[in-house]
Amino acid sequence: MTQLRAFVTRRIPENGLDLLRKEVEVEVWPEPLQPPYGTLIEKARGIDALLCLLTDKIDANMMDEIGPQLKVISQMAVGFDNIDIAAATARGVPVGNTPGVLTDTTADFTWALLMAASRRVAEGDRFTRAGKWRTWGPIDFLGPDITGATLGIIGFGRIGQAVARRAQGFGMRILYHDLRQHSEAGQKYGAQYVDLKTLLREADFVSVHTALSQETYHLMGEAQFKMMKRSAVLINTARGPIVDPKALYRALSSGTIGCAALDVTEPEPIQADDPLLTLENAIITPHIASASFQTRGRMAEMAAANLIAGLKQERLPNCLNPEVYRDRPA
Ligand code: GLV
Repeated sequence: MTQLRAFVTRRIPENGLDLLRKEVEVEVWPEPLQPPYGTLIEKARGIDALLCLLTDKIDANMMDEIGPQLKVISQMAVGFDNIDIAAATARGVPVGNTPGVLTDTTADFTWALLMAASRRVAEGDRFTRAGKWRTWGPIDFLGPDITGATLGIIGFGRIGQAVARRAQGFGMRILYHDLRQHSEAGQKYGAQYVDLKTLLREADFVSVHTALSQETYHLMGEAQFKMMKRSAVLINTARGPIVDPKALYRALSSGTIGCAALDVTEPEPIQADDPLLTLENAIITPHIASASFQTRGRMAEMAAANLIAGLKQERLPNCLNPEVYRDRPA
């Protein structure tokens, strides 16, 4: 299959590239930043397979510019809001992603943020480095208890459930909201299904784990922050645009809610002059929730496996648009 060509839009873990190189001629974009849209078109024109990341916009025009020989789009991420799946389906191109392997790593990081924000870890570190630590202060750096508090999970899929599983160890009351009830998982993790308003009113910690869609764009805005407790902690490790950043700034700076920790922002990366970055009660990390050595390695392997299957005209192990196979033999 060496005559076939694949383009990889950034350096990914070597184990993934090794798998690819055994099957296909591979070109990897070598720069630390993603190729600009127009450059990606130029680089990808005529390729048979594309391995892309959530930072690449893969729309109908991109697919047409690449050409009708394109056999597969393989995304090294679980989220796929950067890809026009319907356009890929219309062109008979299967699209793969990497679900499952990053669930625990992302849930772990959600907890890192939850604890860091509520117990003021980053703020304390800045304080120490600034030479301001002069004594042990009985009323300094207070934050809410985690043990025994109420956790509200918005989006109770794989990652939301993994966050709930960890919350059991902290003896938390767990509420969740989703488009549908997940009765079995709810029972397993002691999580109660509630409507969004109830969740926002009752939760001490609100953690977002839903996909980004037209329905969830700015799901968390001014009205929602007003429903939350003044001490509430918001965590977002899903997608930035689910939270309205201007409304969040107002809520955090006016004391409408207690604090927030975001691994994802709108836009991404957050602009250096974004007012959220001036707040002591906000933690912002650069979209790193799945960034463990092991998980990124597994994601690279899965993305390679999807790409190779696509080149061989086999079903992708993890396919986002299985309807492309409807008219093909199984
Ligand atoms: C990361 O955000 C992913 O979707 O994998």
